[in-house]
Order: sequence, then structure tokens, then C-alpha cells
Amino acid sequence: MSFSISAIPDIRFGEDALSGLPAAVKSFDGVGAVLLVIDAFLAQSGLAAKISAELAEVGVKTQVFSDFAGEPKLAHLHAAIAAGQGADMVIGIGGGSALDIGKIVACCIASGEDPMHYALAANPLPKNPLKKIMIPTTAGTGSETSATNIFAGPEGKKLWIWGPETKADLVILDPALTKTLPANLTAWCGLDAFIHAFEAATNRNTHRGAQFYAHQALRLITSALETAVKHPDDIAARGDVLLGSCFAGIAIDNCGTAIAHNISHALAGLGPVHHGLATALGFEATLGWLVEADTPELNAAAKACGVRSAAELPAFVSGWMDRCGITRSLPVAFKPFNDTDLAREMRAPENQPMRRSTIRDVTDADIDRFAASIMALPKGI
Ligand SMILES: NC(=O)c1ccc[n+]([C@@H]2O[C@H](COP(=O)([O-])OP(=O)(O)OC[C@H]3O[C@@H](n4cnc5c(N)ncnc54)[C@H](O)[C@@H]3O)[C@@H](O)[C@H]2O)c1
Ligand SMILES: [Fe+2]
Repeated sequence: MSFSISAIPDIRFGEDALSGLPAAVKSFDGVGAVLLVIDAFLAQSGLAAKISAELAEVGVKTQVFSDFAGEPKLAHLHAAIAAGQGADMVIGIGGGSALDIGKIVACCIASGEDPMHYALAANPLPKNPLKKIMIPTTAGTGSETSATNIFAGPEGKKLWIWGPETKADLVILDPALTKTLPANLTAWCGLDAFIHAFEAATNRNTHRGAQFYAHQALRLITSALETAVKHPDDIAARGDVLLGSCFAGIAIDNCGTAIAHNISHALAGLGPVHHGLATALGFEATLGWLVEADTPELNAAAKACGVRSAAELPAFVSGWMDRCGITRSLPVAFKPFNDTDLAREMRAPENQPMRRSTIRDVTDADIDRFAASIMALPKGI
């Protein structure tokens, strides 16, 4: 087997790691102004004002952008680019939405191009993007360590911008920042991270380099997520899930995802649904079928989850999702849609890489069956 491991940013982990931000900003040459892309909840809690004041003390001007909600849309990216004119660096603080906005606009501000110029790899990214510091507060997407960035294009469909140029230069992991994340989001995001690790460790692209991070992520997340959901102030559990999510980001950055993410992106093409919940529903619906492949990689992933074999995984995952309080239900916005709609989205060209990377061949009949089982779920949250 031959493989390479893509670049991993500098990572600083620890409770109160955020207090090192001003010194970290100053450690980069010539930074006089930053664009702070910060989640609205955190901005309103006073964090944007606190960071701006601390950066002012070291002579750095801050422009705050927090005017976005839900998954990033093209209009949010345009507004962030306008806010960030003149910045030398982008700091992203929040969930995957804040981080993806920050990583994309660091490229667009440097080049003067529109995000659509780079969507779906239409054109090469600029070689000298603005410097980026990424600080996740959800423990789910792994965007802080990946070269992937997701946003909704002009027609509302999920698009991606991919490239090492979008990667963070520095990642700060401070578990205290995740304490305010509500239980349902803690569980949904944690499952997203878990599935990143699982899919990267078991799909057709997997290799030992990614498995090193993925298996550690599986261990950390399966042992700590339930505690983080039930005891939000447990900083050790929060830290384990945050570190697991970061390692899972490294794993998908190397090997990508698989069928659960095909379903989750397909669902997002129909209506608004949290990415972690959609991915968890897709994972549970396909895991029994997937583990029939019984590969050494599936069995190694099972062991990292603390169970003896791949065959035990479906029962383990369903029980664990129950204990983490995950209700198997789609948002009410999905009421007008049926299994044919979901199957069509699962077959859409942009979702084929995730279908193809799945360790088993995903036939059209499989797609129809999975779509039927997902759309049979209650539509009520
Ligand atoms: N770049 C990647 O590799 C990658 C991977 C997976 C998903 N994604 C994308 O990431 C986005 C989803 O990100 P997410 O799941 O982190 O959610 P999010 O960033 O959309 O945030 C979800 C909610 O959590 C709130 N929140 C965030 N941090 C909080 C905190 N500490 N306390 C209280 N509330 C907090 C936000 O205000 C928001 O309401 C989607 O657009 C998805 O497509 C990207
Ligand atoms: Fe994901």
C-alpha cells in the first residue's frame, strides 16, 4: 500500500487555549487587521467584543462578521467578503458554518474573485490566501483540519470549494467554548464527527495514515459523547469529543466520506436539516447493509468503537444514538417530499463521489431502498 498524508495545521488544544489568540495572531508577520467570522450566538454572548478588545490591545484592528444563520449561503459569503476588505487575516469561531465561511472568504478576499469562481473546482484557488486561524465550537464538522468547504449556491443546492489553499494555518481547540452547545446539537455534531472517522476508516480510499487519526477519533467519541450530551459542563468529555472531531477532520481530509454523507447531502438538497442529524439518519439506515461487506477495515473500526466485530456495530450504534437522545425524525419541511425525491437527489452528479467511495457497490435498487427507509421516518421536528 502507498499513500500520502495531507498537511495538518498547527493545533493548540486545552481549556482556555483561546486566551492565546492575541499572541497567536501576532506570531504571523504583518497582521494589522483581521476579519473575525463568528457564530451569531457566540457574538451575542460577548465573545466578539472581548476578542476585538484583546486584539486592539496588541495593535490589531478587528472587523466582525456574524450576520449568518444556518448553513452558509452565497449571500453570506458576499457579505463576509465585503466586511473583510483590507484584512490581512481571517479568524473563524463557531461551528462548521462559521469556519467554512472564514476559509472561503480568506481565498476570495486575497484574489478578488467570487466564491462561484471556485465552486466545484471550476478554477484553481489563489496560492496566497489570507492567513487563517480556525476555532471550532461545535465538535462535529472537522472543518478546522479539512480542505473542504460547503455552502449553498444560488439555486439552494449544496456546493463545495475544495483545496489546500482553504486550510487553516492554525487551529485552536478550547473545549470550554463547546459547553454552551445544547444537548441535541452536541449529539448531532458528535455523530457527524463519528461518521467522518468511520467512513474515512472503512471506505474504498482508506489507508493506514488516515486510520491512525480515524481510529483514535472513534475511541474518543464513542467513549465521551454520551457524557458530553448528558453533562454539558464535563470539560474532559467535551475535550475528548472536540479532539475526536478534529482528528476525524484529518481522516476525511485524506480519504473522504461514503454512503451516509451521500444521503445527508441528498436530504439537504430537498430541505433544511442539520447536517449531523441527516448524516446520523443516513448512517443508521445503511449500516446493517454496509457491515455485510465484513472487511478487515470494518472490523478494525468496530474494535476502535469498543465492540468485537463489524456485525455488532448496528446494534451498538443504534443503542448509543438512543442514549445520546437522538430522535429519528426529519424536519417538518420534508413533508412534501417522498422517497422518489430523495432517490433522485442521491443519484445527482454532485453526490456520486460519496456513492462510489462506499466499500460496497451501491446499486440503484439499494438507493431506492435506502431512500424509502429514510423517507418513512416521522417528519415532525
Ligand atoms: N468543511 C467541512 O469539512 C464540513 C464537514 C461537515 C459539515 N460541514 C458543514 O458545516 C455546517 C454545519 O456545521 P455545524 O454542524 O458545526 O453547525 P453550525 O455551524 O451550522 O451551527 C449550528 C448551531 O449551533 C450554534 N452554535 C455553534 N456553536 C455553539 C456553542 N458553542 N454554543 C451554543 N450554540 C452554538 C449555532 O449558532 C447554530 O445555531 C454545514 O454547512 C455542513 O455542510 C462542513
Ligand atoms: Fe459530515
